[in-house]
Amino acid sequence: MSAAKRDYHEDDIRAGLVGSVMGNDPVKANELQKIAVEESRLGIPLIIGFDVIHGLRGVFPIAIAEAGSFDDDLMERTARMAAEESRAYGISWNFAPMLDVARDARWGRVSEGPGEDPYLASRFARAKIRGLQGRTDSAETYVAACVKHFVAYSTCEGGRDYNTTSMSVSQLYNVYLPPFKAAVEEGAATAMASFMASFNDLNGVPCTVNAWTLRDILKGAYGMEGFVVSDANGIRECVSHGIAANERDAGVQAAKAGLDMDMGTHIFRDHLKKAIEDGLLPVEVVDEAVRRILTVKTWLGLFERPYTPEETIRAYAEALPESHAALCREAAEKSIVLLKNEGNILPIKRDAKVSLVGSLAGNAGEVVGAWSMGWEKKDCVSILDGLRNAGATVRYYPCGGPEGELNEDEIQSACNDGDVIVAVVGELISMSGEASSKADITLPGKQRELLERLTASGKPVVTVLMNGRPLALGWEAERLPVLLEAWHLGIQMGNAVASVIFGDVNPSGKLTSSFPFVTGQEPTYYNHPNTGRPAGKSKFTSKYLDAPAKALYPFGYGLSYTTFAYENLRVTDTGDSLDIAVTVRNTGSREGTEVAQFYIRDVTASLVRPVKELKGYRRVALSPGEAREVRLTLSKRNLGFYDNRGEYVLEDGLFRVYAGGDSENVLEQELDVRF
Ligand code: NOJ
Repeated sequence: MSAAKRDYHEDDIRAGLVGSVMGNDPVKANELQKIAVEESRLGIPLIIGFDVIHGLRGVFPIAIAEAGSFDDDLMERTARMAAEESRAYGISWNFAPMLDVARDARWGRVSEGPGEDPYLASRFARAKIRGLQGRTDSAETYVAACVKHFVAYSTCEGGRDYNTTSMSVSQLYNVYLPPFKAAVEEGAATAMASFMASFNDLNGVPCTVNAWTLRDILKGAYGMEGFVVSDANGIRECVSHGIAANERDAGVQAAKAGLDMDMGTHIFRDHLKKAIEDGLLPVEVVDEAVRRILTVKTWLGLFERPYTPEETIRAYAEALPESHAALCREAAEKSIVLLKNEGNILPIKRDAKVSLVGSLAGNAGEVVGAWSMGWEKKDCVSILDGLRNAGATVRYYPCGGPEGELNEDEIQSACNDGDVIVAVVGELISMSGEASSKADITLPGKQRELLERLTASGKPVVTVLMNGRPLALGWEAERLPVLLEAWHLGIQMGNAVASVIFGDVNPSGKLTSSFPFVTGQEPTYYNHPNTGRPAGKSKFTSKYLDAPAKALYPFGYGLSYTTFAYENLRVTDTGDSLDIAVTVRNTGSREGTEVAQFYIRDVTASLVRPVKELKGYRRVALSPGEAREVRLTLSKRNLGFYDNRGEYVLEDGLFRVYAGGDSENVLEQELDVRF
């Protein structure tokens, strides 16, 4: 909302025709709110919504990275910070969390969600709902969440944004619905404020007009009491989908299906009244939508406090609180994933002379990631700044980046200078997020060539990746000694990367999405159903002729500067639960934190089940030599699955239980389970 000449629809607000406005200009929001409250017939306050996805001014890591901390408390705290900042800035409705389980890294929006696993995504969902909506003791501390995108948007064919999706009922219920269900359950403690319908069609019915997903599942079976908003322009797009003859038809279908609010078009405003008069739409449908929206506005306290006090706006505009910067840094540090560290090149000595390479390294504006708005450039710490802040002796040679040509002279100087080269490569923010699908997910531009030239110098090269999606890194993993996955970590990115590079922080993040060797392996995900011919030596098994049959780096993977060993997995059936225990030992020479992971496999079932499914995790801090028993009590209720009628079933039989530091390297025990 910054453009001076923008139409803010003041007249429509005055006429009572607008219920919500999107924007992050609190002064303007107060002006518009005044019109709604004081000049419209009913005086109903506006609800001001905005895309605060991973922070407003205190921008923390993109979700695909943050979920890799496997730290629920952290995920909750960052959401609370976002809620507080939003309220201080006149925003009471955040279009988050984004809960699309995503398995195809060609889709640019993988960056916005918590990765490929429904269990982790459900834990993320609960943490975010608690953080955004949980503390209702004072209006300054909570906002209405808008859980999105409902549903199955991430399975757009070919990873092409907005594309069609098709799947079985069991697939929908087992993989894509769980985080949304978890959000409703968690929200029940306060109020489940709102959901956003997704753009895609699901099995032929656009989710904007899908009565099965909106009315039967979301509002019916899950009992979601808040309202559902379309995605921007979603109702009109039903005409392009070819499911509605015209805008009025689309609006009527959407309202009937359970959509309560129209984002981005005037279709509800222009057509629903007449549709009711013409007998095309029962008035009760609109009454219900109004009741749901008013319930959320009331819950937010907008009737008592419609305006944002000038002091909070001023305070917000002046400076980012230190505690917010510190939380952004903690989240960034915990989200970094060490993929490879041959010869223990990392951590590097603080007195080493560093040649820092890559245009991304010096560009503070690139640290925030997709969907960041409201941040201040002065709060952003580039990797160059971060290394300097850490007291490093660093010389910066941009050399080139995701776009454009390489600078030969700079490459020469970077190679001649310095004891160690830190090369920052990856993607620009604009290469992931909405409408940023890619057919090739290798490092863009001439960055491979750049890395090749740097390694040819013979100097140790530390490659820091800055990206919004899993990249196909087969080439890099074969040739480069060190790979540090740093994603888009938010405003404290530079300080966090520096603290890991110099060893002040021992990396503990894990991958929330599997990384392939080559793009053609997408979708690659660990929890795939088994085939009748699992990939093996024989040609006639499920694999590619020209790519490995597994991920380069699987879900849950991430190294540390120390090493961990898993011993003595014990599973006891206690009747209602499985009591699982495993010993995790720090076998290296420094303190570190490991994310211990528990998986299961239903070996024989009436539907083909995934080869592994995450069922629990714990972060464990261990001193050198220390061993600790990590336990998980897994209720047997969690061993079931949804069938093709959408019914949850528990089937007796053989199960495997696994524990380990990633989804591949695990201990296992088999047992017969009766329910
Ligand atoms: C489109 C996006 O799909 C959605 O995630 C976002 O919240 C809305 N536009 C509003 O900006």
